[in-house]
Amino acid sequence: MSKKIFSGVQPTGNLHLGNYIGAIKNFVSLQNDPDNSCIYCVVDLHAITVKQNAVELKKNIRETTAAFIASGLDYKKSIIFNQSLVPAHAEGSWMLSCVARMGWLNRMTQFKEKAGKDKEKASVGLYIYPILMAADILLYDATHVPVGEDQKQHLELSRDIANKFNLDFNVPDFFIPPEPLIQKKFSRIMSLKDGTVKMSKSDPSDLSRINLNDSSDQIINKIKKAKTDAEPLPDDENELSNRPEAENLLGIYSSLSDQKLNKIINEFAGKNFSEFKKQLATLVVDKISPISLEINKLLKDEKFIDDILIQGAEKANIIASKKIQDLKKIIGFK
Ligand code: TYM
Repeated sequence: MSKKIFSGVQPTGNLHLGNYIGAIKNFVSLQNDPDNSCIYCVVDLHAITVKQNAVELKKNIRETTAAFIASGLDYKKSIIFNQSLVPAHAEGSWMLSCVARMGWLNRMTQFKEKAGKDKEKASVGLYIYPILMAADILLYDATHVPVGEDQKQHLELSRDIANKFNLDFNVPDFFIPPEPLIQKKFSRIMSLKDGTVKMSKSDPSDLSRINLNDSSDQIINKIKKAKTDAEPLPDDENELSNRPEAENLLGIYSSLSDQKLNKIINEFAGKNFSEFKKQLATLVVDKISPISLEINKLLKDEKFIDDILIQGAEKANIIASKKIQDLKKIIGFK
């Protein structure tokens, strides 16, 4: 079945192995299925929900774009652009915010996590961020959205907004409630320092994550220092449920080698972590170093990256502004 794919990544610092395994690796395989049409967005409007430095933000937009390309996204096959170049996202987001309900937003766990204890001081943007995400998706009639597990609730909200709009305005097929594409395994890569928390850009310890632009030495060092437990590796998948670090490291190995977890478990059963970590480090370096080198090479030609985004935005704008015009007619503005 042909799919219309949309997904986004925030340009807020280095992309890491979680972003790669949970999202970008899938962006590439979806793109390489000729039945699909894919749009991948550097969501810079989302990034400003927390304070950004202007120079850093510009640099991060380019770096995220370079990471897309270095990971295998092809601007000739997919539309690649940054959100702020297409005004329809902000405009659509306003109209959808009049459809979304406070009660729905109040349930968003990511807001609670990100806002922390002092919600009063969080930006309003951070609170309504999932509505902007819904606009991103719905403006392109995306049927499928590849994301990691942490975005599941936001996608459910997008579906709720689509359904409520269609019902309220009696336009049953106008917005397409999108299907999440979340992998059964590896949709939540965990911190290297604590197998019970997600690998994240915002973790203060750089040792908790492998960044896509880490050098081979950094990768080897981080894997060497990764937290483990005292037992040898198990011979049965069921034993992993209370061994989060072992589960995470074996999962990373399985995903990056494109082999089933069971096969990896059989291969390393009974071995100690130091032996496994050596092979894991070799594999991660093999997979990530070429991406890292390519990111650095691409970043030397800023015009090349900027042109990809501008050309992508022109294509995106045609699709999204047409949907906005239709939306305006339905609402009664035109
Ligand atoms: P962001 O920028 O936080 O993350 C980008 C993608 O990476 C996935 N991800 C992970 N997957 C597995 N393990 C992890 N540790 C991990 N950390 C991050 C995320 O699930 C995501 O798929 N709101 C979104 C961006 C967005 C978007 C959209 C996505 C904006 N508009 C429309 C899809 C469709 C976000 O902040 O992702």
